[in-house]
Amino acid sequence: MLDIESLISDFPILDRKVNGQRLVYLDNAATTQKPMPVLMASRHYYEAVNSNIHRGTHFLARLATDAYENARKTVARHLHVLDPREIIFTSGATDSINLVAQSLARSGKIGVGDEILISTLEHHANIVPWQMLCEQTGAILRVVPCAEDGTIDEVAFHQLLGKQTKVLALVWISNSFGVAHPIHRLTAEAKKSGALVLIDAAQAAPHMTMDVPAIGADFLVFSGHKVYANTGIGVLWGRADVLDSLPPWRGGGEMIKEVTFEKTTYNELPFKFEAGTPNIEGAISLAAAFDYLDELGMDEIRQHEANLLEIAAQSLTDSVPGIHLYGPAERTCALSFGIEGIHHYDLGTLIDQMGVAVRTGHHCCQPLMARFGITGTVRASFGIYNTEKDVDALTSSVHKAVSMLR
Ligand code: ALA
Repeated sequence: MLDIESLISDFPILDRKVNGQRLVYLDNAATTQKPMPVLMASRHYYEAVNSNIHRGTHFLARLATDAYENARKTVARHLHVLDPREIIFTSGATDSINLVAQSLARSGKIGVGDEILISTLEHHANIVPWQMLCEQTGAILRVVPCAEDGTIDEVAFHQLLGKQTKVLALVWISNSFGVAHPIHRLTAEAKKSGALVLIDAAQAAPHMTMDVPAIGADFLVFSGHKVYANTGIGVLWGRADVLDSLPPWRGGGEMIKEVTFEKTTYNELPFKFEAGTPNIEGAISLAAAFDYLDELGMDEIRQHEANLLEIAAQSLTDSVPGIHLYGPAERTCALSFGIEGIHHYDLGTLIDQMGVAVRTGHHCCQPLMARFGITGTVRASFGIYNTEKDVDALTSSVHKAVSMLR
């Protein structure tokens, strides 16, 4: 069991008032708040370590290089990955997906008529980079439809998957509806059929144990700021043999072995994909965040948040007439809803005045919204510091706002 009271005191921002009210932060799918160990790690880095890495021989350069490379090892450990060279630091999940798509575009492995398979649940970051790849290569984007409850249509998945499918790129947990894709099963099918598989774990990473090799995919991506670390850091995990077979995307310092004006040879993993000075402090903050989460226990976190989601779904259904919850009964991390006759934006604005922070709109998933014939939803998304008191605040603020708007 998580000790929530002591955990809350690790997050200074939760003390602040919003519109004179206690802050009830339920926008964790957009970004999470930062605990003291993460804030302290960043501060310590700039106060005592700051230097560029892999370049200098002086004391601070060695210290910073060790801290950065140790952060890579911590991330690898958290993901159950044995080889830290498979951890590429990027600026976030979006950057990681663009890296894979653009590296594939340059590789010559994707050509005219080849197919990239995604699902209706994807957010723009797992749609647009593949559309760009298709424009560059002549490949075709195929989309697996979903059922009314948002779950993937597995019959259609099997019909769409074939020898022509070169990449399957799937979100693990939908940021909009909290739907979990059966990624282990779908990955196994796609691998049998010869496709490369990329898993977007942006919304899974904060909520569950990630045994990455056990998934069997080729790539997995996520962002640091959604796992209680700083903004501007993210991870691309890739199988070493697959990454080795791909060309770099960005050119510059660090990713090279030797440069002449005639020809450049490239560095080894992971440096081949980390051109320029990386976000050193960000990587250190990510390691601090994973140490913090591992100390709490990912299974405990998952149980705590699942419990809150269930209570929230029930109490909103019981107390708000005309509410429609999107997604299946079993959700992870996010609860999306609409209320008959009320615009999501009006509702979000009113409950913000009562101190409750949620996200409203299309959640960077316009095609998913179009599939359901809506322009957006109200989304409450939970994190480790949320409590039943927060669920009560959500329910009563929604209830009040609805009576004001009707
Ligand atoms: N992808 C983030 C969200 O769902 C920004 O809010």
